Amino acid sequence: MNKKDLLTLKDWSGEDLIDIIDKAIAIKESPEKYVNLLERQTLAMLFQKTSTRTRVSFEVAMTQLGGHAIYLDWRTTNFTLAEIEDEIKYLCRNVDIIMARLFKHIDLEKTARASRVPVINGCTEKYHPCQASSDLMTIKEKKGRLEGLKLVYVGVQNNVCNSLINGCTKVGMKITVVTPIIHEPSVDKELIKEAEKSGLYQATLDIEKAIDEADIIYTDTWVDMELFLDPKFKKEKEMRIKKLKPYQLNESLLKGKDILIMHDMPIHEGYEITRAVIESSHSIIFEQAENRLHGEKAILLRLLGTI
Ligand code: CP
Repeated sequence: MNKKDLLTLKDWSGEDLIDIIDKAIAIKESPEKYVNLLERQTLAMLFQKTSTRTRVSFEVAMTQLGGHAIYLDWRTTNFTLAEIEDEIKYLCRNVDIIMARLFKHIDLEKTARASRVPVINGCTEKYHPCQASSDLMTIKEKKGRLEGLKLVYVGVQNNVCNSLINGCTKVGMKITVVTPIIHEPSVDKELIKEAEKSGLYQATLDIEKAIDEADIIYTDTWVDMELFLDPKFKKEKEMRIKKLKPYQLNESLLKGKDILIMHDMPIHEGYEITRAVIESSHSIIFEQAENRLHGEKAILLRLLGTI
């Protein structure tokens, strides 16, 4: 049997994605039914970048499913010294599945080619499929459906935005992006071309018009997490803040709107979103973050052939 990877949501059909979302909801409702399904199985979690949610959700998912997770900080391993393919060829002989958060998607593709076991994308500069999959799960939980809903993504066109475009158009949701800045390393022209063909994708800079009749508004950090505090990135950070300030999710923008508010976290309060909006009754940000756990369980079980 061919091993299955999840490098991008392009790896799944719309039916696959809807099935995973429904499985994640079922797992959340009855976690006891899934205990020990991954007994004696080990997940290697390889991180070149920082993480809170991705690390915690995958590690807890493995524990609750009866398996084990090993955290590998790239900087303290011999991945720093050797060819990535050789280290992966070793790693996959000792573990059952690998999740990697790497700077470059091209290195994730090398990882998948070298591995005999399934590989999951824990976020690269191009895509964040686990995030988008559990975000759609959260929307389905809240709204009871996906098809026909409209999501507006506001901020930088980046990895999360790409996966949301991919995911929404696969499940029949409309997505409008309001992205005055495009993060060049994330650009995927083919993805946008496909999204345009679906008739469900739009791009605009008119945020007021975009959120009219929207069901969900979604934002993300304006500056990549690893660069936020880096003095070398100061100028670019200042330019982005100036350009994006009119696109902040705040009380004035959302006044009187019945619209769910999402953010994949980490949050930079006072930049892309205000505290009042984070804590508002329309915000589902913390449920969204919690759902990473249930979403990761569904992904692990699916790639390991258990559900
Ligand atoms: N949203 C997300 O992936 O969170 P972390 O970067 O903390 O893993």
